[in-house]
Amino acid sequence: MKIYFAPMEGITLYPLRNIHKEMFGECVDKYYTPFVSTARTYKFKKREQRDILPEFCTSFDDYKSEVVPQIMGNKAEQIVWAAKKMYDLGYKEANLNMGCPVATVVNRHKGSGLLEDTAKLDAMLYEIFDTLEKENSGIEFSLKTRLGMHDESETAGIMEVLAKYPASELTIHSRVRDDYYKGAIRLDAFCDAVKVYRENGGKAPIVYNGDITSVESFNMINSKVSGIDRFMIGRGLIFDPALAREIEGGEALKAEELRTYLDRLYDAYEEYIPEDQNVIFKMLEHWAFLHVHFKDCDKQLKTIRKSRSKGEYKAAVTNMFSSCEFIN
Ligand SMILES: Cc1cc2nc3c(=O)[nH]c(=O)nc-3n(C[C@H](O)[C@H](O)[C@H](O)COP(=O)(O)O)c2cc1C
Repeated sequence: MKIYFAPMEGITLYPLRNIHKEMFGECVDKYYTPFVSTARTYKFKKREQRDILPEFCTSFDDYKSEVVPQIMGNKAEQIVWAAKKMYDLGYKEANLNMGCPVATVVNRHKGSGLLEDTAKLDAMLYEIFDTLEKENSGIEFSLKTRLGMHDESETAGIMEVLAKYPASELTIHSRVRDDYYKGAIRLDAFCDAVKVYRENGGKAPIVYNGDITSVESFNMINSKVSGIDRFMIGRGLIFDPALAREIEGGEALKAEELRTYLDRLYDAYEEYIPEDQNVIFKMLEHWAFLHVHFKDCDKQLKTIRKSRSKGEYKAAVTNMFSSCEFIN
C-alpha cells in the first residue's frame, strides 16, 4: 500500500513538507506540492517557483521521487513546458491539477474546469502526451481529477478520455466539482469510474482521494474500493500528522510530538515569511483542524486566535497543551 500527502495550496509548502517528512514521513510515500501555475510568459511566479526548488527539499533523501510538483494550466504547450522544467529540476514526476473547484480557476477552464468539455480535454491531453513522448522528455506525467463538474452522469465520459493516455498515475477525488470538498464522498461513483477506466484500457495505477481522516474512515473506504492500494490524504494529515503511521498500524499521535511539530513549523514559517502576524496566520490554518485534539478548548483556542506576537502565540499554545485534555 502507498500513502501520499495531497497538495494543499498555502499549506503543504516546503516548510511543512520537510518537517512532516522528518517527524512522520516514514509511512508517506510521496508529497505533492501545491499547484504551480503556467503562464503565457513561460515563467513561474517567484513565490510558486521557490516552493519547488530542490534546495528546499532538505528533509528528503530522494526528493526526485518523493516530492511531486503539481501543475495548473489549460494550454498543452505551457503544461509541457512546465513538466519539462520539473524534469530539469530533477523531479521524476509532474502532476496535472484537474480538480481544483475554486470559481476563479474553473472560470478560466483550469482545474476541474478542464472536465467541462471532454472534447477539449481529449485534445489537450493528446497534445501533452504526444509531445512528451516525441520529445523523449523522461518525465512521468500523472493526473489528479474529480468525478465530474456537476454530477455523476459525466464520470464515464471523462474516464473514457483519461483511459486513452499513458498517465503514470491517476488520482481521483471522490466528488464532483459542485461538491467542493463537502458532503458525502461518492464511493459507488468512484468504483464505477475505476471500472469504466479499466474497461477502456486505462492502465495507470489509481489513487483514491477523499475524506480519509481516521483509521476508521480509512478502513471503511478501503473495504469499498477493492483493488485500490494507493491513497492520497489531505486534511486528514493536517488534522492528525501521524495518520499515515496509524493507518500502517503504528502509534497514535502523542501530545508531545504534536507540540514539537507545531514549534518546528512555527520556526520554519518564520524563515519562510516575514512578520509574526503572517506566521501566526499560517499556524491558525493548522489550528482550524487541530483544536479537535483538545477537550473543551474554546477559550484557549480563542486566545491562540487573538495572539498578535510570537510571545502571545507561544504562551497561548502552552496554555492549550497544559490546560486541555489531549485526545488523539
Ligand atoms: C485548503 C486546500 C487547498 C488545496 N489545494 C490543492 C492544490 O493546490 N492542488 C490540488 O490538486 N488539490 C488541492 N486541494 C485538494 C486536496 O489535494 C484534496 O484533494 C482534498 O483536500 C480532498 O482530500 P482530503 O479529504 O483528504 O482532504 C486543496 C484542498 C484544500 C482544502
